[in-house]
Amino acid sequence: MSKFEAGPIPNRRLRRGRRNTTLRRMVRETQLTVDNLIAPLFIVEGQNIRKPISSMPGQFQLSLDQLGAEIDELVAAQIPSVLLFGIPLHKDAQGSAAWDANGPVPSAIRAIKQQAPHLVVIADVCMCEYTDHGHCGILTSGEPETITVDNDPTLELLARASVAYAEAGADVVAPSAMMDGQIAAIRHGLDQAGYHDTIILSYAAKFASAFYGPFREAAESTPQFGDRRSYQMDAANAREAIAEVALDVAEGADWLMVKPAGAYLDIIRAVYDEFNLPLAAYQVSGEYAMIKAAAANGWIDEQRVALESLLAIRRAGATMIITYYAKDAAKWLNS
Ligand code: PBG
Ligand code: ZN
Repeated sequence: MSKFEAGPIPNRRLRRGRRNTTLRRMVRETQLTVDNLIAPLFIVEGQNIRKPISSMPGQFQLSLDQLGAEIDELVAAQIPSVLLFGIPLHKDAQGSAAWDANGPVPSAIRAIKQQAPHLVVIADVCMCEYTDHGHCGILTSGEPETITVDNDPTLELLARASVAYAEAGADVVAPSAMMDGQIAAIRHGLDQAGYHDTIILSYAAKFASAFYGPFREAAESTPQFGDRRSYQMDAANAREAIAEVALDVAEGADWLMVKPAGAYLDIIRAVYDEFNLPLAAYQVSGEYAMIKAAAANGWIDEQRVALESLLAIRRAGATMIITYYAKDAAKWLNS
């Protein structure tokens, strides 16, 4: 047996900078702080409701009277912002509860702004929680097999809802319906109503994703027929994502979002490289549910996996992260 010959000793040893906590801290390229976190909340009509969402442990549907305590906790954890979804009592074909000034979201906005004026309130703008068919816009008429979401008439409804949320005091509206032209329609609607300072956070590259499964239980927004593939993006397409974002930027989007996050880090990076606007990413319900489920089985360390998943989203290029882990992550980061 011949003697094994080692090569020359390495003259560059990257391990030198990893030797202890302080060195690692000094060379760390990416920071995750509470400033990056946005907490989603589900607001239901009714009283005394704090209904657990079974596929999203730790998340609840909240009625207005239960919201105050949750807001107190988020403010105490120094979370800067919340994203509101509404679940109305009555749904119809138009989704008219979406722009009802006394609907769940406008009522929640007013209550939050009274309680915590500095908390940035973002209102999700979509029709699927409000329509009886569960699609993100109104439907075309005709033969059942030809029915689809009717793009242009939906734009006006999205603009009406946006104005209702701005009027209630929302700082930001976040349209998620993936209708062509929705940013221009909403900007026009807001400006006409005098809401020049309301920020539009566009769900610019939103993919038709199986990772939204638990959310649809939470928001009671499962489509009653078909799926969302005729309006949300195909998971295979990265170049098309850039085209989607470019249109929204041209239409006046202030902030951009990529969704989901974890399986779409390449899209986050591509949008970051291409557009110089604030960028958000949404760690969606299925991403949260998977970490929760594996942790509940004792298969992974929940805190470490959750923080690593959020850091990876920051590293990809997102400044703002919408995550169901917001409150927990804030506590972990602050401790
Ligand atoms: C509604 C909407 C969805 C999500 C945010 N806004 C669901 C969907 O498009 O079906 C998903 C959020 C999540 O899964 O956490 N348009
Ligand atoms: Zn929708």
